[in-house]
Amino acid sequence: MKKNRVGKLILVSILLFFSCKTDKDIFIVNNADWLDIDGKLISAHDGGISQFDNTFYWYGSDYRNTIKGEYGKPAAKLNPGINVYTSKDLVNWKYKGIALAYPDSGWGSNGTSHRAHVLYNKLTKKYVMWFFHYATRYPDRMASVAVSDSPVGPFKILGFRETGAPEAYEKRSEDDERFGSPGCAQDLNVFKDDDENAYLVYDDGSRNIRVDLLTDDYLFSTKKTVIALGKRHEAPAMIKFKGKYLVAGSGVEGWSATETDYAVSSFPLGPYSKQMCMSENKTWNSQITSFLLIKKSGILLGMFDQWWVPDSANLNRSHYLWLPVSFDPETEIAKISYLKEWNPFTK
Ligand code: DGJ
Repeated sequence: MKKNRVGKLILVSILLFFSCKTDKDIFIVNNADWLDIDGKLISAHDGGISQFDNTFYWYGSDYRNTIKGEYGKPAAKLNPGINVYTSKDLVNWKYKGIALAYPDSGWGSNGTSHRAHVLYNKLTKKYVMWFFHYATRYPDRMASVAVSDSPVGPFKILGFRETGAPEAYEKRSEDDERFGSPGCAQDLNVFKDDDENAYLVYDDGSRNIRVDLLTDDYLFSTKKTVIALGKRHEAPAMIKFKGKYLVAGSGVEGWSATETDYAVSSFPLGPYSKQMCMSENKTWNSQITSFLLIKKSGILLGMFDQWWVPDSANLNRSHYLWLPVSFDPETEIAKISYLKEWNPFTK
């Protein structure tokens, strides 16, 4: 009997020893299919991560029904919505469902929605999601807002929002005839500063990356705006790192690989420095989507989408590429380092 108990104790100790993973054991492994903890492929493309308390929330687009890259009006209804996953360590992700369901009617029901990002507003105690909706005609390519009481949703769409963009000039087809109107936004992202002010960072339709100050409830643009990165950029990301504000964006290449350009300022609404480049090899065959400053390690994580890799016939299988970004606030030089495998919690 006694022998049995000792045996059990040893077994439990061995199991505990092997299950006690520490931060040192956490590795981001690039150039691989990423599965959630239930063994399913993670579908959270062109998105971003928010940290609320001690949990990371990864929001992103689901392309399971649009593997050939259908978007806009023809893909309406195929789009299931914006997915959300949670994790404590940035590596083991649990699928929490659709945070923003595709709407049956009203704003957002006639096209597809992309590039969702979420902030928590302390004043209203609401989670605020900004995303961009794409159909075919103006005002269809617009910034949109949804809110929820919970970070995993369900988010409720409030509607589209005008931005500080004075006008958009880019006309690509007859469909774009009425596109050149004020308040436009295409690819977008959000950024919350230490003083609780938040900003919308977006492609203004003329392919500039603009930064707008949001209202205190984060639900509207104040239309106080600045061009941070001039033409031609999309897929914007913004972060405060080592006391400076960095605004980055990709080239305008659709779902093809592009370098990552950036500009720096001491203030969120500028003035911004000249344009520089932080990547090599077309950002190792990817496009930027977001930044995350990992509080525990002080490491700046750059999130990128390796579109059509490894399967050129399946957009949804596209790999995620997460890499550390270094920055020298004196010289204002930022560099992304390519690492196949790395630990985001130790320097
Ligand atoms: C622009 C975005 O930046 C890309 O990621 C992709 O969504 C294309 N639009 C689709 O054409």
